[in-house]
Amino acid sequence: MKLPELKIGSLIAKIPIIQGGMSVRVSTSALAVPVAECGGIGTIGGSGIPVEELQEDIRKAKNATKGVIAVNIMYAMRDFYDLVMGSIEAGADMIITGAGFSRDIFKIGKAHNIPIVSIVSSASFAKLAEKLGAAAVVVEATEAGGHLGTNLSLRELFPSIRKVVSKIPLIAAGGITNGYEMAEMMDKYGANGMQMASRFVLSEECSVSREFKETYLKAQQEDIVLVGSPVGLPGRAIKTPFVEKMLADEDVSAKSCLYQCLKKCNHKYCISERLLASHGGDVDNGLVFSGANTFKMKEILPVREIFDRFVRAAESVYKENKDYKKYTEDKEDTVAEQIKTHSEVQ
Ligand SMILES: Cc1cc2nc3c(=O)[nH]c(=O)nc-3n(C[C@H](O)[C@H](O)[C@H](O)COP(=O)(O)O)c2cc1C
Repeated sequence: MKLPELKIGSLIAKIPIIQGGMSVRVSTSALAVPVAECGGIGTIGGSGIPVEELQEDIRKAKNATKGVIAVNIMYAMRDFYDLVMGSIEAGADMIITGAGFSRDIFKIGKAHNIPIVSIVSSASFAKLAEKLGAAAVVVEATEAGGHLGTNLSLRELFPSIRKVVSKIPLIAAGGITNGYEMAEMMDKYGANGMQMASRFVLSEECSVSREFKETYLKAQQEDIVLVGSPVGLPGRAIKTPFVEKMLADEDVSAKSCLYQCLKKCNHKYCISERLLASHGGDVDNGLVFSGANTFKMKEILPVREIFDRFVRAAESVYKENKDYKKYTEDKEDTVAEQIKTHSEVQ
């Protein structure tokens, strides 16, 4: 049957798919606009670029589509507040925050009448986000690309959060590669929608270098590994020569701190420099963030085709099954609370 719309605050996405924000120019308006045009939520990665550049890109996106354009901003960024305020001023429809937890963001959201969506990886932060006024919560599991807040899989983590969040939409993220999994997360686990990113890297519209996409296409399961990030969180990336050096404990640090991008940085390497390198095509010296299931995807497709395939597959099995309530009640509490070393409360 037909998939339901995803309602976040007063915004409606006709198709319950959020394209995950990918910083340092991986998800720009070039990707977010076609996603929004297909009925999903297109997200511009707002971290790691100057505020003026971000604002220009938001305006470009908003002029190009009437669909929903979100901006993802990582709390770990030194200029977090400026990026949030700049995005609101430029007309973003929604702010999605990850890599840490800000309390103040909800007050800003209320004051400017803009929905705030929190990305969390534990029941305690999900509950807190709902209480503080989040318009939706993204449950991001260990299969996700980029910075990680848990080692639990999506199917282990999601029920513990479904149990404690009841008033706002709950979005599943991490490792979803096809519409059957999307329908499963919605039917069996009670997700109101899902967020995915790696599938969209392998789109024609994603503006990363050909080499970045080829690294995705060539990756085998064992090539997708956990690496330490200077942010202090683990991150999931593809084993490039740079990552191999890091895993072998070689010195990969930068000579000087050129970007001053993070609130707290352990300076093991410069994450901005490494993400920029891979974006531009120097994957040997770069960091290529990727979800755990990228090895299952072997085609670069237009965004429209990605949507069509997802919706066709999901609607062929989707039943709007309410059984998930029973499923979450049956689930034991063992995964309900996570040690929160990964997150910072402002
Ligand atoms: C290249 C890349 C960059 C990412 N950058 C960010 C980011 O800047 N902020 C964030 O909250 N999540 C980031 N993520 C996580 C995604 O938004 C998304 O939640 C996650 O990757 C979903 O899993 P999937 O890639 O398996 O679909 C990134 C993921 C990838 C693959």
